[in-house]
Amino acid sequence: MPLPKAELHLHIEGTLEPDLAFELAARNGVTLPYADTDALREAYLFADLQSFLDLYYALMAVLRTERDFEDLASAYLARAAAQGVRHAEIFFDPQAHIARGVPMETVVEGLWRALGPSAENHGVSTRLIMCFLRDESAESALATLDAAKPFLDRITAVGLDSAEVGHPPAKFREVYEAAAALGLRRVAHAGEEGPPAYITEALDVLGVERIDHGLRCMEDPALVERLVRERVPLTVCPLSNVRLRAVANLADHPLAAMLDAGLMCTVNSDDPAYFGGYAGDNLDAVGLALGLGEGRLRELARNSFLASFLEDDEGLRARYLAEVEAYEFG
Ligand code: HPA
Ligand code: ZN
Repeated sequence: MPLPKAELHLHIEGTLEPDLAFELAARNGVTLPYADTDALREAYLFADLQSFLDLYYALMAVLRTERDFEDLASAYLARAAAQGVRHAEIFFDPQAHIARGVPMETVVEGLWRALGPSAENHGVSTRLIMCFLRDESAESALATLDAAKPFLDRITAVGLDSAEVGHPPAKFREVYEAAAALGLRRVAHAGEEGPPAYITEALDVLGVERIDHGLRCMEDPALVERLVRERVPLTVCPLSNVRLRAVANLADHPLAAMLDAGLMCTVNSDDPAYFGGYAGDNLDAVGLALGLGEGRLRELARNSFLASFLEDDEGLRARYLAEVEAYEFG
């Protein structure tokens, strides 16, 4: 039995496995520029974040109907459950779909067809986090928040993703203020490829409660001290960091140093179909590469539930935390 955990950094579009991509392409009459799944997998060799994003956005062409989004999310939830995920806070990128003529309603309703019955079907509770694309305009983000207004009962938080460098958090001050006024929680990617200053800006200007990635905080000791003092959760994604070359290899990953510094880290999969593993795979691989002991692994699992947006169901959080404490390593 795998260690129970919450996944807090997971792009649903990044769970599109090659087999499902071809199945959906056939169903929707979309031609992919790859002969087969093997040829597609050969394209999974990335130089940096942008080279990944180019493929990530291109493959979204196969996602057209509510059923497509339902199938995508169902496949993820089944895989996550098998790896011990008990709670998943799932990012989606509506602008990337709306730009292709797929409306917000299709995306949210489709995802919800899988997420709604997920606790029953998979034993995984879920929340949805709507991301703004930081390489699009602030006006586009505001229009996206407006389009989401009929669906706010299904959306817990807003996030910020896509190409980081050159798109500082402050660009999105207004939409984050509007989201907060609507009762939405706030997170943002920062310090993946962008500088430590983007982490500070996300906290101070956007008012985020968690930092997604946050790796580059390690370059700024004063920032580390602040993140420790304020117990700001960082959603670290080890296999993603290797595949997108934020770190050279897993043995060089700063996660152990981050935990030693007292940072509240969690381990997540980011875009598991592209980066070689789901939540349990990430924890296993980084635990092995860095020699993390049972105490550290349990701490990471505990952090994942403590950092999750379960304020509306503290009983459930308590149950998950009890599962973590009772877990016996095999
Ligand atoms: N970083 C930024 N944006 C993203 C990512 C990521 O790792 N995955 C999907 N969108
Ligand atoms: Zn991400």
